[in-house]
Amino acid sequence: MKNILTAPFIRELGETAANMYRQGWDERNSGNISLLLDEEEIKEYLDTEKVIKTFPLGIDASPLAGRYFAATGTGKYFKNIEKDPEKNLGIARVSPDGRSVMLLWGLSDGGGFTSELSAHLLGHLTRLKTDPENRIVMHCHPQNLLAMTHIHALDEREFNRSLWQMCTESIIIFPDGVGVLPWMVCGTDEIAEATAEKLREYRIIIWALHGLYAVGRTLDEALGLTETAEKAAMIYMLTAGHERVNRLSDDDLRAVAKQYGQTPKEAFLN
Ligand code: 13P
Ligand code: ZN
Repeated sequence: MKNILTAPFIRELGETAANMYRQGWDERNSGNISLLLDEEEIKEYLDTEKVIKTFPLGIDASPLAGRYFAATGTGKYFKNIEKDPEKNLGIARVSPDGRSVMLLWGLSDGGGFTSELSAHLLGHLTRLKTDPENRIVMHCHPQNLLAMTHIHALDEREFNRSLWQMCTESIIIFPDGVGVLPWMVCGTDEIAEATAEKLREYRIIIWALHGLYAVGRTLDEALGLTETAEKAAMIYMLTAGHERVNRLSDDDLRAVAKQYGQTPKEAFLN
């Protein structure tokens, strides 16, 4: 068996978590990441027959039965994932009935998976229906998006218009827009179901007064969506309370999207 600490997906998870930590999006244990894995990718690193422990789920993840994933542990500090992946991450397989996950590696101090595991698994199974190549679900607490939900109406159309109007290139990166959820108790199956419902339509979901979820085929893609939405929110916050003298019109937004071959969500434009 090869040393799993050298596996590309473990290294990339550590690097991504460290980058997110440095952005200030993942203080202490805030945020969580999960990554779907193919059996081919992991079998050279671990014995998939050796189950360490089983964790029950409150949701029905049966469409993912038999699928492998890596995810962050609950209470684990993002800044520590890169230097100690075995303690801070776990690799598991979804049970045949989709009602539990079987730990195969990691969470070596006896901890459990992220308290948002339901949101991640429901997020994956929903997203796979739209994009069979999707592999990543990522959650974090970016400062400006979070701040924006304190002062901006949570109306989805208005929220998206404000984000698109802040930076010329936002509409190119997320032409499909962001989904907005009202404040809900986190870590519950209810917020997981509401998030999955929004993920049918959007790749970025804002959790009011909390943070966001982003999905993608790669860690870079999910990170890029988060960065771009967060930059737009930062410009919103930097200009909030000031008179905005210049602004992007709906025609400007349409023209930029067209130039880059993107089709923005028409319902959000006038
Ligand atoms: P976990 O430490 O359980 O992953 O929780 C962090 C978080 O951000 C909850 O929304
Ligand atoms: Zn959170």
